[in-house]
Amino acid sequence: CSTMADDDRFDCLPQGDISEASCMARGCCWNQRSSVQMVNGTVKLGLPACFYPYKYPTYRLENYKETANGFEGTLQRSKDAKDIYPNPINSLRLQVIFDTAQRLHVKITDATKDRYEVPLPVLPGAPFSKPDTTLYDFVVTKEPFSFQVKRKSTGGVLVDTATNTFAFYDQFIQISSLLPSKYIYGLGEHTDAHFLHSVNWKQFTMWTTDIYPNLETPLYGVHPFYFSMEEDGDANGVLLFNSNAMDVILQPTPAITYRTIGGVLDFYFFLGPSPQDVTSQYMELLGKPQMPPYWALGYHLCRWGYGSVENTRKVMERNLAAGIPLDAQWNDIDYMDKNKDFTIDGSKFNGITEFVNEVHAKGLRYVVIVDPGISSAEAPGSYQAYTDGLAMNVFVQNASDQVIEGRVWTGNPQAYPDFTHPNISQYWLKQITDFRKVVPVDGLWIDMNEPSNFVDGSMVGCPKDSSLENPPYLPNIAGKTLNTRTLCMTAKHHAGLHYNLHSTYGIYQAKATQAALLQVFPNKRPFVVSRSTFVGQGQYSAHWTGDESSSWSDLQTSIGDILNFNMFGIPFVGADICGFGDNATEELCLRWHQLGAFYPFSRNHNAVSNRDQDPAAWSPAATEAIRTVLLTRYSLLPYYSTLLFRASISGHTVVRPLFFEFAHDKRTYSIDAQFLIGSSVMLSPVTTPNTTKILAYLPEGRWFDFYSLKKISDKGGEWIELDAPLDKVNVHLREGGIVPMQKPEVTTGKTRQNPIDLVVMLDKTGKACGEVYWDDGEQMDVLQKGDFSLVQFEMKNGKLKSTVVNDKYKDVPAMGSVRVVGLERTVKKVVWNGGEEVDFVFNDHTVMVKVGEMLGKESTVAMEFE
Ligand code: NOJ
Repeated sequence: CSTMADDDRFDCLPQGDISEASCMARGCCWNQRSSVQMVNGTVKLGLPACFYPYKYPTYRLENYKETANGFEGTLQRSKDAKDIYPNPINSLRLQVIFDTAQRLHVKITDATKDRYEVPLPVLPGAPFSKPDTTLYDFVVTKEPFSFQVKRKSTGGVLVDTATNTFAFYDQFIQISSLLPSKYIYGLGEHTDAHFLHSVNWKQFTMWTTDIYPNLETPLYGVHPFYFSMEEDGDANGVLLFNSNAMDVILQPTPAITYRTIGGVLDFYFFLGPSPQDVTSQYMELLGKPQMPPYWALGYHLCRWGYGSVENTRKVMERNLAAGIPLDAQWNDIDYMDKNKDFTIDGSKFNGITEFVNEVHAKGLRYVVIVDPGISSAEAPGSYQAYTDGLAMNVFVQNASDQVIEGRVWTGNPQAYPDFTHPNISQYWLKQITDFRKVVPVDGLWIDMNEPSNFVDGSMVGCPKDSSLENPPYLPNIAGKTLNTRTLCMTAKHHAGLHYNLHSTYGIYQAKATQAALLQVFPNKRPFVVSRSTFVGQGQYSAHWTGDESSSWSDLQTSIGDILNFNMFGIPFVGADICGFGDNATEELCLRWHQLGAFYPFSRNHNAVSNRDQDPAAWSPAATEAIRTVLLTRYSLLPYYSTLLFRASISGHTVVRPLFFEFAHDKRTYSIDAQFLIGSSVMLSPVTTPNTTKILAYLPEGRWFDFYSLKKISDKGGEWIELDAPLDKVNVHLREGGIVPMQKPEVTTGKTRQNPIDLVVMLDKTGKACGEVYWDDGEQMDVLQKGDFSLVQFEMKNGKLKSTVVNDKYKDVPAMGSVRVVGLERTVKKVVWNGGEEVDFVFNDHTVMVKVGEMLGKESTVAMEFE
């Protein structure tokens, strides 16, 4: 004990009476020097005083043998193991499955009894046959049991559980592993000051929670997935597929500890080796994201508290009059009759049907909010959504098999639809269809689905003596009981106990809502945006990051949030532009638009009673600057849509951290004030007040200013100071890429009619490549049917060639202009398809050519130089 280095200490007594006596009772080492602190009544993690000794009895691996696609064995609990929690599981089954060359699956379950496992499907087709070769080696130590995952190419140890912490009880499962580096990202939805996590005793609790985002507490989404950059620039990712409440702790060793209070250990290791490979492998297994309908790529206007249909119309009209590009108008719960789902406030929102028709006539879409809670407090038979739910038996039940009631915005008792119930699709579809007869919405915004409850557990509390409500180990959830602001843990869903399923409520609701919208609009891409999310949810919905406040720090941290969700396979994500809570200032709102115009999902949303923050609510100069940056977004729509296609077909990220493209440049690992859109466009927004200059990092390569197309760095790998006047956001183009654009109009529909323009950014050797994807913007099964057009461009030796990879979708726009930037020589002639000479303008290393009718055809534009 006394010789153990600080870095080797793993906490043996994370909760309860942290004393020498309790520590000794666990057979652990005690050394009072500790940096654990109490801050405002909660434990702030630090160097533990009670820690595991070098030798500690856990489990022994027996009957370890090779299987068709890996290994299996039994883990027997040591006779000397201490009973720290009730119900230890003495015999465990270890399965090691070599899924693919890049993906390893390790599962540890009870050997004698079934336990809860996340009921959501992963990639169909498992079990897999053994791959011929793998990027990894799997190594076990039999006693005490531990395992290592090694990268064959470098010998790097990515995972090493030889930490003596392994424990498996009915309601407490713990495992720790050494990490290959301190570069750790991901781990659920939390507000963190930085995208790159600190490993200095940081705790991430996984438990979907309705809470105002603040540092340290778990938020709406659960994604027990970390992404790690290794010291030599390789990347790997690790998923623990488990939905129970859990703490994940990072410590400076560097090491990670998982403590989950249920389910099984179900690990997937993704070996990359590039960062993009890791996310592709992740989405391959857990589901690739659904492409959004094209209109959803536009700008969305929303707030809580328009208060009436008149005011909604007024705000929308003033933005349209100001020339703000806009594709969708939204309404929050204020459209409802006393906040009841699927009802309309008959006085303030009288005329909503006509209003939605007006919205549609302008070529815009309309979206409303729906909460899970269905009021159970109305006169019998008077509220259809409740009557139907009872008749179809689709509400979550309490421990005594009665409908469990909580309370949210209606202020009265409400029931919670059980989105795992076999009748739910019929029930949910009926509510949406009936509602659409009055309000023909185009998409749905599902909120409060953690699920939120303003009373703890239920209107009548929860059973007191249940170990589900009061587990022996309590993860660091807000509120200090599992049922704080949600349902009782003993509540019953068709698929099981709320204790197990809590954090999957949102994904099940998203799935049901997507399915219902697919029935309403057959074969049209549903638009669903959900607050609560779980592993794999990108298949069913988009996400917004919840109730951020109108503050500079929330503007800044929103960048890490959207990068994380791209790594979690939910690329269509955005934060509330200008912030939700508190009043925005004009400067903040303008700067936030200069960032939010580049979020994949771009929506301005505001909380009730805050000052207006729609673009037209500000001074003419600010409104104009917002209009300008939104037009910039609209000009990049073909690029975004191509990236979203890549996300849904190949599991790519749409926005990504710099290190995704520059994995060998460690300076990029901590950058979270800038990000890349695809591989070719970099945004460097202003994230602090009173700022007119910023320092931005330009990774290796040539970089061009987006607006002037002037080269601003010839080699990159440097920090440079950039002017950042109030009316401009810095956008740069990276060498080697080709970006498809369109002249922007005020809707996505109108913009889509314009020709496609290309910007070709040559690298030093005169090469560049890129692609444009095109479809009708609506069909759900375009990828399965191949009903799209995909054209790839490649430039080398002064010649730009387009190759049509797929041309099943014929209604493609014409080609407009091609601008080639970064030319080293003066162009004297440009020839089209080997024959005709075409006009061009050459200016400052850039040539601009107008071409016609090219997108759907194989063609060339060749340059001759002086
Ligand atoms: C909470 C959501 O996060 C927020 O966006 C919404 O405005 C309110 N609920 C009211 O519905």
